[in-house]
Amino acid sequence: MAKKGRVFSGARPTGRQHLGNYLGAIQNYVDLQKEYDCVYCIVDVHALTTVETTQELQQNTFEMALDWLAAGIRPDESILFVQSHVPEVMELHTYLSMVTPLGKLTDLPTFKEKIRQQPENVNYGLLGYPVLMTADIVLYKTDIVPVGIDQAPHIEFARETVRSFNYRFGTKALIEPDVKHTEVKKVVGIDGKDKMSKSLNNHIELALTAEETTKRVREMVTDPARMRKTDPGNPDICNVFTMHKIFSEKEEVDMINTECRKAGIGCVDCKLRFAGNLNKHLEPFRAKRADFASRPAEVQEILVDGGKRARAIAQDVMKEVRAAMKLP
Ligand code: TRP
Repeated sequence: MAKKGRVFSGARPTGRQHLGNYLGAIQNYVDLQKEYDCVYCIVDVHALTTVETTQELQQNTFEMALDWLAAGIRPDESILFVQSHVPEVMELHTYLSMVTPLGKLTDLPTFKEKIRQQPENVNYGLLGYPVLMTADIVLYKTDIVPVGIDQAPHIEFARETVRSFNYRFGTKALIEPDVKHTEVKKVVGIDGKDKMSKSLNNHIELALTAEETTKRVREMVTDPARMRKTDPGNPDICNVFTMHKIFSEKEEVDMINTECRKAGIGCVDCKLRFAGNLNKHLEPFRAKRADFASRPAEVQEILVDGGKRARAIAQDVMKEVRAAMKLP
């Protein structure tokens, strides 16, 4: 079947993925494979903007690849690769930097946020982050980029950079990408408050065992006004209920919705039901993950092969880019 165009997305190697990554990004990556020719990249070079050492980079890359593969990224059909395996992206980053006004980079809200977060390490790579991201996208003649809403300024930046480059060098070599926002609503962590994230340690890793998952679910904060089991609860503000809506059958969701409001079901029971449904949902994922994890050399081979296929596309695009710039 002819596909509709090319999708590209990237994510920094954060190691084992959590429920927020799964619902916000990975599930979409998997679904998009039906209709698009997909390229998914683990951006290890981007990761270097925020870490001082490269110690855990390999392991984090590997763990993330395991999760993506187990979730259903099909490496025979899509390209799954590691950013640094295609060095052309660094070359393109340099060329794109020549059509990038400095003020545009310093004005980006994402850059300002980073300087606030790590004032002790405001490196040049942080400033150039969106330029490298643009290079990622245009190096594969990408039509669509599925990303969270926080990345919107970067995609707009990429579009403007493509226009500047094509105009300056009188070419159509680069394609302006369209964005497809994936995170429709934020996945809240077990604190019931902030977006689920590893750095806040409010996350539930996909690769936990069923027991570990249940333990974590039991720590979830529910309606804070409900002190005792005999108090009525409010599912509308309860994150466990939000999760039930995603992972439980409609009948059970309706039952909880009614019973919670009249203290007919307690939070512990409600959480155990959610944990059970989540564990059931993740069972095939866990089996697949364990299988891939038992064959690490094959997983590395998948990434190397993905890198080769990505590089072949990149090299053709770079020929066009250099020709447009009158470079040898
Ligand atoms: N900036 C993205 C993030 O922080 C990661 C990323 C790098 C990316 N290159 C990309 C996303 C290209 C989409 C396309 O999440």
